Amino acid sequence: MLAALRKLYVACEIAMAVETARPFFSNLLPEGHLRDYLAVRAGVKPDREFFLLHALGADLPGAVTTLPIDADAGDDEQHGHGDGEHRESPALRFSLAGVQLKFSAVLEATGGLTVPANGIGGSWIVKLPSMRFPAVAENEFVAMELAGRVGIPVPRLKLLPVQEIAGLPAEITDLKGKALAVERFDRLPDGRRVHIEDFAQVFGLFPGRKYERRSYANIAAVLWVEAGEVAVNDFMRRLVFSVLIGNADMHLKNWSLIYPDGRTPALSPAYDLLATLPYLPSDRLALGFGGGKDISGISQEQIRRLADTAGLAVSPLWRIVEETIERTIEAWRGHDAKEVLPIDIRTAIDGQIRKVASRTLSGPT
Ligand SMILES: Nc1ncnc2c1ncn2[C@@H]1O[C@H](COP(=O)(O)OP(=O)(O)OP(=O)(O)O)[C@@H](O)[C@H]1O
Ligand SMILES: [Mg+2]
Repeated sequence: MLAALRKLYVACEIAMAVETARPFFSNLLPEGHLRDYLAVRAGVKPDREFFLLHALGADLPGAVTTLPIDADAGDDEQHGHGDGEHRESPALRFSLAGVQLKFSAVLEATGGLTVPANGIGGSWIVKLPSMRFPAVAENEFVAMELAGRVGIPVPRLKLLPVQEIAGLPAEITDLKGKALAVERFDRLPDGRRVHIEDFAQVFGLFPGRKYERRSYANIAAVLWVEAGEVAVNDFMRRLVFSVLIGNADMHLKNWSLIYPDGRTPALSPAYDLLATLPYLPSDRLALGFGGGKDISGISQEQIRRLADTAGLAVSPLWRIVEETIERTIEAWRGHDAKEVLPIDIRTAIDGQIRKVASRTLSGPT
C-alpha cells in the first residue's frame, strides 16, 4: 500500500466539489495559524484542502508526494480565489502538520541554518517563537534534551536566535527571541524520504479529532501488534515523562510510526515534547490514560486499566513508570540546559516533577 501512496495523483476537478481531503491526506496539512499563513502566501483558500495539497505538497511529511493530474491545475482561477497577489513562493513548497509556525531548513557547513529560497526545504525543521506562549522554543529544547537523557530517542536539536536563520520571509525577521531547529527524521542526509504516519492517520481520524475517540491504551495496542515490545516500552517511557514534566498536549498527532525500511513500522523518535502546564496550569491530558486525564500523578490502577485495554502485562509497564520517574529526577537535577528557561517555567517544571513522583510512588497499590 505504501508503494501505491508514494505517488498519488490528486484530481483537482473532484476537489472543486469536495473541499476536505480524506483523513490520511488531511492530516498531512498544517492546521490553525500555520495553515492560514501558508494559504495566504500560496494564494489558496485555507479550507480547500486539495488545492493546499497541490500548493504545499512538494515536501509533505513522510514519503508521500501529491501531484495534480492536470498540469493546468496550477492556474490561479482553479485555486479558488485567484487574486494571484501572493502567488506561491518556492520557499513555501513544503508542508508540515501542526499549529506552530515552522519552516523546513538546510544546515550549512558553517553550522548556520537557511530556509531555501528555491526548491524543496531541507532536512531540518525550524520552529519559530510563539506570540502566545513565552520561551516556547527554550521550553521544547530543554524538554527534548531532558528526554534524551532519560533514554527517549530524540532528533538532533539546536536553539538559536531567529536573526541567525537566513532566508526567512521578510515579515518574519521582525520576530524576536529564540527558534528551535530539529533535525527531520523523515529525511535522510541524501534527501531520500522516510515514510511516517501519525496516529490520527493510523486511526483514520481527521486532525480536528486529535483529542478524541482514542486513548493512550489504543496507541499502545497498535504499537504492540505492529512494532512490538521495544516500541511499547518506549511509548510508556514518553507518556510517563510527559506527565512528569507537565506536557498535557500529547494528542494523536504527536505520536508517529516510522518505516525505516519502507515497510516495517517502529515508533518514530519523539517530537513536540514541552511543558505545557506553565502556560495552561489547569490543563488535563490530551487523551485518556487508564480511564482518566489527570496529570498530577500515575496510579497502579491506571496502569492496570491501560494494560487491560491494550492486552499487555501490568508489571513490566509499572517498572517503566518507576524507572522513568527515577531517571527523570536524576536527569533534571544535572540538566544544565534548564538555565535557558525563565525562572517561573523552571520552577513550575521542578514542582510538577516532584508532585508526580511523590503521588505516584506513594499512592495506593
Ligand atoms: N523531527 C521531525 N522529523 C520529521 N517530522 C517531524 C519532526 N518533528 C515534527 N514532525 C512532524 O511535524 C508535525 C508538526 O511538528 P510539531 O508537532 O513539533 O509541531 P506543532 O506545530 O507544535 O504541533 P502542535 O499542533 O502539536 O502544537 C508533527 O506532527 C510531525 O508530523
Ligand atoms: Mg505537534
